[in-house]
Amino acid sequence: METKGKILVTGGAGYIGSHAVIELFQAGYEPVIIDNFVNSQESALAGIAAILNTDVTCHRIDCTEVAALREVFQNEGNIAGVIHFAAYKAVGESVREPLKYYHNNVGSLVALLQVMAEFNVTNLVFSSSCTVYGVPDQLPVTEETPVKKANSPYGNTKQICEDILTDLANSDGSKIHTIALRYFNPIGAHPSAKIGELPLGVPNNLVPFITQTAIGIREKLTVFGTDYDTSDGSNVRDYIHVVDLAKAHVVAIDRLLAGKAKQIEMFNIGTGQGNSVLEVVKTFEKVSGQKLNYEIGPRRAGDVPKIYADVTKATQELGFKTELGLEEGLASAWQWELNLKNNKK
Ligand code: WQD
Repeated sequence: METKGKILVTGGAGYIGSHAVIELFQAGYEPVIIDNFVNSQESALAGIAAILNTDVTCHRIDCTEVAALREVFQNEGNIAGVIHFAAYKAVGESVREPLKYYHNNVGSLVALLQVMAEFNVTNLVFSSSCTVYGVPDQLPVTEETPVKKANSPYGNTKQICEDILTDLANSDGSKIHTIALRYFNPIGAHPSAKIGELPLGVPNNLVPFITQTAIGIREKLTVFGTDYDTSDGSNVRDYIHVVDLAKAHVVAIDRLLAGKAKQIEMFNIGTGQGNSVLEVVKTFEKVSGQKLNYEIGPRRAGDVPKIYADVTKATQELGFKTELGLEEGLASAWQWELNLKNNKK
């Protein structure tokens, strides 16, 4: 079947990657997954197949291995573009194991760029992060907000990767065009509840911890501090529905393949709204009908008190705006948690 082009999706069995594979396919592209399953599960492939009613090719390789990447590029041929999700992303874990993060997050990008150059693949969407802003002086953050010293090795790997991509774009003869999408806080799951977030072990992130508490896997949620300078004292974040975030990647691929992108572009991908932790808890209780067991605890090291996106640039230049809000995000996360429990039976 004729498609709009073959797109390699590294980390395509992961949380955001799997949702992007769905949107790419439904937009007429041929997604091909690369994943080593160190931070994802094979069940995601079954979920993708169930939604699309077809299997998606998956190469089980480590993106830091040039030879393995080269073999995939050789076998697949005529690759129109790459979306690079594959990376570790737990802020706290990166503080405990920095070398693991530098090797994987920076090493995989360098290996990928080498092989893309060898095969003359010149379109890249890079999964970046609002953590590059550190603790911003002004809110909402725009793409011109100064990148500050990262608050964690994880955030630093994203800054280093953006620097590598910028230096490459500015180097003589480089033909690669990159769109770096700076995510805020992805939440929720596909409306089919066949794919979603699968945290391995105790969740670091707020929303899976909430849904696991509500379903009885966790005893209670700890709210990490209510003594911040915010409306109710708890931290503020920009929670974007993962389906909206996935769609932003299709918009970026469209832009690259249409030749409309500059050599390197950064975009904030968020809702433009900030919500506090306590607002998220209250909204979850409303949409799920579940009373949540939570307590107030001490601040978590490395937490940024408040950050949310100015989305003007993505709106004006990408023509991208989110369509789903916090309630849909939390309701879909809850449906996914319920589906996980029912499937375990
Ligand atoms: C959100 C808020 C916590 C757990 C995420 C990703 C990171 C990056 C940025 C993409 C914070 C509070 C959490 C809990 C809590 N995204 N919280 N109790 O730290 O913003 O980072 O977005 O690159 O990869 O991890 O997200 O969900 O951990 O925390 O009170 O049990 O919830 O203090 O204010 P964070 P998070």
